[in-house]
Amino acid sequence: MTPVPIEIDGLTKRFGDVVAVDDVSFDIGAGEIFGFLGPNGAGKSTTIRCLLDLIRPTSGACRVLGLDSRKDAVEIRRSLGFLPSDLAMYPNLTGRQTLEFLAHLRGGVDWAWVDELSARLDADLTRRVAEYSSGNRQKVGIIQAFMNRPKVAVLDEPITGLDPLVQLEFHAMLREHVSDGNTVFLSSHTLSEVERVTDRVAFIRRGRLIAVESMEHLRAKAVRRLRLEFAVPVPAEEFLGIAGVHEATADGATVTLQYEGSMAPLLKAATNREVLSVESGSIDLDEMFLEFYRDEAADEVADERGVEAARHGGV
Ligand SMILES: Nc1ncnc2c1ncn2[C@@H]1O[C@H](COP(=O)(O)OP(=O)(O)OP(=O)(O)O)[C@@H](O)[C@H]1O
Ligand SMILES: [Mg+2]
Repeated sequence: MTPVPIEIDGLTKRFGDVVAVDDVSFDIGAGEIFGFLGPNGAGKSTTIRCLLDLIRPTSGACRVLGLDSRKDAVEIRRSLGFLPSDLAMYPNLTGRQTLEFLAHLRGGVDWAWVDELSARLDADLTRRVAEYSSGNRQKVGIIQAFMNRPKVAVLDEPITGLDPLVQLEFHAMLREHVSDGNTVFLSSHTLSEVERVTDRVAFIRRGRLIAVESMEHLRAKAVRRLRLEFAVPVPAEEFLGIAGVHEATADGATVTLQYEGSMAPLLKAATNREVLSVESGSIDLDEMFLEFYRDEAADEVADERGVEAARHGGV
């Protein structure tokens, strides 16, 4: 049996009083592109640093390809590509010299492959790192993460600084990479960044894992929007009883609806009237994700209240 590419098992990391990662567990399978999502300070980089053995867990364990991230760190590195969130590079080296230096540490790489990666990302390797724009630095970071054709690629916020066309190419690269049975684990702040490319996502908030979901399942759960323009004004209430409809508002002859699941019952009801136009909003995952952030703000208020109440002898 082939080993599981990434296993995070009851991982906890404390920095003094701060619980940066709190009993987090999840697995990532071969051939998966897996997204790790959460707001600033959620614990994404801390989890990744434990996985890479850059910091030691307070408790719990991480395994890469069945190997222990602490005991077998050296062996793991051979099959792993890593893009840190804060890649340090020598300012006086060119991009190419930087890659040569890193390739040397790895015991040599296939330069035709490196050239192919650079061409695809449109990276300029001739300039000195000190002169690079942040996007160009990021490209060198991505190339070094993939230059040994890693079985497992761990990328901490890989698309930071990349323009939209480069992002598209990068996503195509990731898909090709996993089509050979390799695995990609990447972190991000926003779902819209990763929804096109990931198969599954884990949401982390204040160190705790909130959910692990397939993109397919998330899309099915997402609320969608429909705008119907009728020939004459129609009361919104007509739509409220229809299966899947959450909200309906009317503005003159235009009715805006939020629904989930199949559109069929809704359309059937609408076509009892003369419909002039139908506008279907794309699946609004971004909004769903914002709700998730808003919940965090609400939790914080609740926690603070809890602390206040405890101070006053309540709760
Ligand atoms: N070396 C450290 N010493 C003390 N606290 C730390 C250290 N590293 C991280 N933390 C704290 O741990 C928590 C999680 O930080 P982490 O960097 O993992 O978040 P993140 O999800 O990667 O955030 P971002 O999206 O901003 O990169 C934060 O509260 C952070 O301040
Ligand atoms: Mg981070």
